[in-house]
Order: sequence, then C-alpha cells, then structure tokens
Amino acid sequence: MKPLLSVNNLSVAYAGGRIKEALKNASFKLYKGEILGIVGESGSGKTTLASSILNILPSGTRKEGEVIFEGRNILKMNDKELRNIRGNRISIVFQEPAASFNPVLTVGYHFLEFMGKNSAMNKRENKGRIIEDLLRKSGIYDTKRVLKSYPHELSGGQLQRAMIALAISSNPDILIADEPTSSLDVTVESQIVNLLLELRKELGFTILFITHNLGLVKVLCNRVAFLYRGEVKEITDTKSLFLRPKHESTKVFINDYLRLVS
Ligand SMILES: Nc1ncnc2c1ncn2[C@@H]1O[C@H](COP(=O)(O)OP(=O)(O)O)[C@@H](O)[C@H]1O
Ligand SMILES: [Mg+2]
Repeated sequence: MKPLLSVNNLSVAYAGGRIKEALKNASFKLYKGEILGIVGESGSGKTTLASSILNILPSGTRKEGEVIFEGRNILKMNDKELRNIRGNRISIVFQEPAASFNPVLTVGYHFLEFMGKNSAMNKRENKGRIIEDLLRKSGIYDTKRVLKSYPHELSGGQLQRAMIALAISSNPDILIADEPTSSLDVTVESQIVNLLLELRKELGFTILFITHNLGLVKVLCNRVAFLYRGEVKEITDTKSLFLRPKHESTKVFINDYLRLVS
C-alpha cells in the first residue's frame, strides 16, 4: 500500500546546534486511516519532527532528507504550496493550547482569520454558522460565549477543543496531535482523546499521535515509532512494542512506564 506521508532520512539541527542534532536520519511512513504513535522521552525530537512535517521550523534551522506528501517534498515547497498543505491538508494540535492562541485576540477572531487565509473556506457563506457547527462538533456548546472570549477566559480543556475545531475546519487528510493532552488533567485528557476518536470516525483523517504517555499509546495507536535522542529506534505494531521491545532504550522506557502503573 502506498503511504500517505513518508519521512525519509530526516535530519534537523537548530541554529547554533551541531548538524543532525535534534533529528538524525529519521524515517517512517504514515498510512491512510491509521493512528501512528510517535513516542519518546522529553527532548527526543518529537516536536521537531511535527514541525518538520509542516515545514514550520525556525529560520536558520538546517534540514536534510525529505517529507513526501502526494509525491512531493514538503521541505522543498514554496510559500504558496505550503499554504495549501498547512492547516489545510495537514493540521496540527499543539501541547499547550494557550500558546496556540494570541492572548489579545478573541477565539472567534482566530477562526475568522484562519478562514480568511484559506481561499476555499473564505468563499463560503454563513461563516458564523460554520464556525459554531465546528465548535459543537468539538464539544463546545456555549458557542457564542466562547467565540467572544479571550484565550485566558477559557479553561485549558475548552481551549484545546477550540484548537481541535480549528484543526478540523479544513477537513484535513492528516491530523498531527503533538502531546495534545499533556497540559490537561486526566479527566479532560480522556475527553479530548475520545473527541479525537469520534472526529476521526466522522471525518476520516489519519492521525500522527505524538506522546510520551504509553498509556495513551496502548489505547489509541495501531503502530508506534519510538524516538530516542533524535533517532527512530524501532517501528512496530503497538502490541509488539509492549511484548517484545527490541532496542535497549525502548525497553528502559517501557519498564519505567510499567513500574509507574503497577
Ligand atoms: N527552537 C529550538 N532551538 C534550539 N534547540 C531546540 C529548539 N527546539 C527544540 N530544540 C532542541 O531539540 C531537541 C529536540 O527537542 P523537541 O523536538 O522539542 O523534543 P520533544 O518534543 O520530544 O520534547 C532538544 O534537545 C531541544 O532542546
Ligand atoms: Mg515536544
């Protein structure tokens, strides 16, 4: 089967860093319909990987390798081509919802601005109704209040729901979720995870689920790529990861988790 997205020998070094520092020859494939987990300890390169896929790394960052989507390398695309990918074909939900919103603008403004930048969505009439529908789909029912609110006036869970509503507004092929629940408490975490699963069922997007939480991997992911210090150490189905971890770093990571939950 042809992959939806292929990351081939991707290496990334931030400005000032050594070449191949944050990611070292990382390769994996994402197939349509699956939930692929990208797992690793803090600092292992997960967010760098997510940012590379959308080509949103800070300027001065050195990149080698390729990110192939529909036969074309995202790392080589011009701004116009990138606009057609980012937040459109491939959307992202970040770890810290408060940081994803501009604190001096209302939530509603973010939606209008986002739609204004997307030519297909910008042409649609009844934008207000479309936005309220998106919020309701994402589990926000007091839509008018939320749209009028500034980010600090909402809870982390509500903001993350609003972020998810924005992310699905373009009906993306791929949703990248970069530790979408690690800033939330566990009750809200399970609500958000269930929301992602419901939306996936309804809209059919493929999920790249980034996390350091093996509990979430167990319930969510079909396959897992394990990152350690910028390297993909193994890619396997989720069951085998727990039963037969191959790499030493994976074994340590899994044993730490099992100690924690037992
Ligand atoms: N903007 C940046 N500038 C310089 N170094 C960075 C930057 N972002 C991340 N790094 C470094 O790159 C490595 C990988 O970070 P990151 O991708 O954020 O890991 P993770 O998401 O797995 O916690 C870390 O060593 C981190 O310190
Ligand atoms: Mg991260």
